[in-house]
Amino acid sequence: MTIKKIFAIASAKGGVGKSSITAGIAIEAAKNLKVGILDADIYGPNQHLLFNVDKTKPEIIIKDEKKLFKPINSNGVLLNSMGFILDDEKAALWRGPMLSGAIKQLIHSTDWGDLDVLFVDMPPGTGDAYLTISKELKLDYSILISTPNILSIHDTTKTIMMFKKLNINILGYIENNISNNISDKNLSAFSNNNIDKLDSIPYSSDIYNFDPKKTHIFFRGISSKIESLV
Ligand SMILES: Nc1ncnc2c1ncn2[C@@H]1O[C@H](COP(=O)(O)OP(=O)(O)O)[C@@H](O)[C@H]1O
Ligand SMILES: [Mg+2]
Repeated sequence: MTIKKIFAIASAKGGVGKSSITAGIAIEAAKNLKVGILDADIYGPNQHLLFNVDKTKPEIIIKDEKKLFKPINSNGVLLNSMGFILDDEKAALWRGPMLSGAIKQLIHSTDWGDLDVLFVDMPPGTGDAYLTISKELKLDYSILISTPNILSIHDTTKTIMMFKKLNINILGYIENNISNNISDKNLSAFSNNNIDKLDSIPYSSDIYNFDPKKTHIFFRGISSKIESLV
């Protein structure tokens, strides 16, 4: 089992498009590469919903006497998610050690096979989950997601500080224009920290009503940038 490159898709703020963008990029990248998504958002896993596989459970296989999850293949993307293995309501009340136990299990008990790229859909916040994930997985790059809004940018500054502390390479940020209301003046938080803009995603009803079977043209640009790094 080898994974060539691992990308964390992150923002301290929730609701800025991490999961939608992860899914869109992964579907595009899967046209040329072997791609997986690890949905590490313990409090609000969404990938199983975006890929319409929420009624499915990963098969459990035994390899070298170890129980492993076989990721679900949807639209060419291999998926494993907290959403498959946790009871949502229970997980919402979990605290530190139980959370990191669940994340570790998800990371170490998935039979990904050989992948070119693994995307990790990160939870919001900057706390325990980040420390656990960065300790258990060798993240090659992080990609920050922000809307062009002062609240989102404010929180992203914290994410930048955290990745810098954890020594994780920040590839750049994607501006997600969910509100259809671009305002460049706020984005200096990124340039002040030398964080490049990788792409700008417009508001789109195709993203809002996500259908994994559709062509995701908005993600083609960023997906080819990622492909060139593998
Ligand atoms: N570019 C976009 N255009 C339209 N709707 C979007 C876009 N990006 C995200 N959304 C919507 O915004 C909400 C939050 O997105 P989500 O991917 O769940 O964010 P996060 O994972 O950061 O919490 C969802 O309802 C999603 O459908
Ligand atoms: Mg999410």
